Amino acid sequence: MKKIVVTGGAGFIGSAFVRFQLERYPGTKVVTLDALAYSGNPANLEGLDPERHRFVQGDIADPEAVRTAVEGADAIVNFAAESHVDRSLMGAEAFIRTNITGVEVLLRAAREFGVQRYLQVSTDEVYGSIDEGAFREGDPLSPRNPYSASKAGGELFARAHFETFGVPVVITRGSNTYGPRQYPEKVLPLFVTNAIDGLPLPLYGDGLNVRDWLYVDDHAAGIDCALRQGVPGEIYNIAGGNERTNIELTRKILALTGRDESLVKPVTDRPGHDRRYSIDASKLNALGWRPQMPWDDGMARAVQWYQENEAWWRPIKSGEYRAYYDAQYGAR
Ligand code: TYD
Repeated sequence: MKKIVVTGGAGFIGSAFVRFQLERYPGTKVVTLDALAYSGNPANLEGLDPERHRFVQGDIADPEAVRTAVEGADAIVNFAAESHVDRSLMGAEAFIRTNITGVEVLLRAAREFGVQRYLQVSTDEVYGSIDEGAFREGDPLSPRNPYSASKAGGELFARAHFETFGVPVVITRGSNTYGPRQYPEKVLPLFVTNAIDGLPLPLYGDGLNVRDWLYVDDHAAGIDCALRQGVPGEIYNIAGGNERTNIELTRKILALTGRDESLVKPVTDRPGHDRRYSIDASKLNALGWRPQMPWDDGMARAVQWYQENEAWWRPIKSGEYRAYYDAQYGAR
């Protein structure tokens, strides 16, 4: 693949994928299309070779911006999304626009320009919650919050374009992702940066919800494997293999930041809070992908990155973020 368009490439997982492509495939050029909405950050793409990487600011729901970026591309990998469940509980319009309408606009461009692959980055949240065992790709969609409903909607449009128009669509469903450069609304960077500042860690409900943690570079590698080895029309789970309760995750963060449990502040639970996510990644394993990052090393690296990169997150936490934080946590 000579030219890959990465939408949402200025975000957390997207920017890791852009770096992965440029490092792994010397013959590949990348165009990042990103609207630079609240969580997109040009700092995430600093230092890339301008001969091989081009940044275009644009919204995936804007057909003209998309057509300009996609013309001549071999593949589109779509990371652009509204991704935070708690924000989707406050209003879902932006989620519908980006995660459904935007996907449909991209799929139309994929069809028009005859790309070799369209990869839709999705989430394990489309399966909903599971108390025991792990979901496989053939299991029914059962999203339970506005965010996951919008991601499921995007997937259905992707599948529709595969079935109806033969667009070579591949879908990945990743588990909860962690690592450097994650916007500090998500639990891990929120708790790490609060712990650094000695601020409370707002733990929802009983803290026993389970998430399966996947290191961001492993997620990028999994998407790359599905992109290059995957079969059009197929779905691939990408699992971290690190299921932890939120209280276990919190204790790990406290240990790594040298804080004690007095910082933990139990707060009112998230409405409709999914209890446990678990997926089986055997299908992607069969194509050669395995997560490489052990949990202890990944957590140590992630926490150290936030400790060493205050210049990255402090401006974020003092900006628009403050209004969000007050609205989200003020009354809890
Ligand atoms: P989050 O990072 O929002 O990811 P997702 O909801 O997509 O899994 O949340 C991860 C878990 O952490 C989830 O069970 C909710 C919990 N959580 C808290 O306990 N407190 C918080 O402030 C946040 C943001 C999340």
